[in-house]
Amino acid sequence: MISTFSLFFLSPLFVILVSSSSHGSTPHNMVQETCKKCAATTPNLSYSFCVSSLESDDRSRSANLHRLGLISMDLLRHNLTSTRREVKKLLRNKTLDGFVKVRLDDCLELYSDAIPTLKECKREYKQKRFSDANVKVSSIMEAPSTCEDGFHEKQGVGSPLTKSNKNVFQLAALTLSIVNMNMHLQ
Ligand SMILES: *[C@@H]1O[C@H](CO)[C@@H](O)[C@H](O)[C@H]1NC(C)=O
Ligand SMILES: *[C@@H]1O[C@H](CO)[C@@H](O)[C@H](O)[C@H]1NC(C)=O
Ligand SMILES: *[C@@H]1O[C@H](CO)[C@@H](O)[C@H](O)[C@H]1NC(C)=O
Repeated sequence: MISTFSLFFLSPLFVILVSSSSHGSTPHNMVQETCKKCAATTPNLSYSFCVSSLESDDRSRSANLHRLGLISMDLLRHNLTSTRREVKKLLRNKTLDGFVKVRLDDCLELYSDAIPTLKECKREYKQKRFSDANVKVSSIMEAPSTCEDGFHEKQGVGSPLTKSNKNVFQLAALTLSIVNMNMHLQ
């Protein structure tokens, strides 16, 4: 009994079990650990939104913190372009209310500007210029809130973009949070 027990401690299996558990952040934990920190430090960003967004990209399984930032930026880019497409589609409506049309035009401009800004942000992030990247993501974050607020300036008019604006806002908040974590590690 004792000898079997001690043999186990000396066995390669034991060594593997111990070394993998003491590694702290196996790839899968990396998403969860990062999301815990993001949710704790970022208002309006939920842990579950963070995990489901990052895990929607298979690359996150083996990603370190720096790569998770790039993945988050790609998710944000998809959402920016799809929201911009959605705005253009809404603008095709010939019987649009005048107020709504002006607001949609503003949103189109905000989203059109955000796309090249994100491209620059990604380049800066790759070069580890995290404070420059921080400024860019912060400005991107203003697009969905400014777009959304515009519709609420007039009583009784709802925003047709609430859901998309919310997604973009949360993905930008997630990206900002990861950029800042990288900055603090630098
Ligand atoms: C965060 O959520 C609260 C409540 O839903 C909302 O009032 C507030 O405007 C949100 N903050 C931002 C920056 O969107
Ligand atoms: C936008 O982001 C949300 C949250 O990650 C996701 O559920 C949705 O599918 C995305 N949409 C597009 C078009 O990328
Ligand atoms: C076009 O806009 C009008 C007025 O805002 C709205 O009642 C109508 O449902 C819209 N049509 C489409 C196809 O979205």
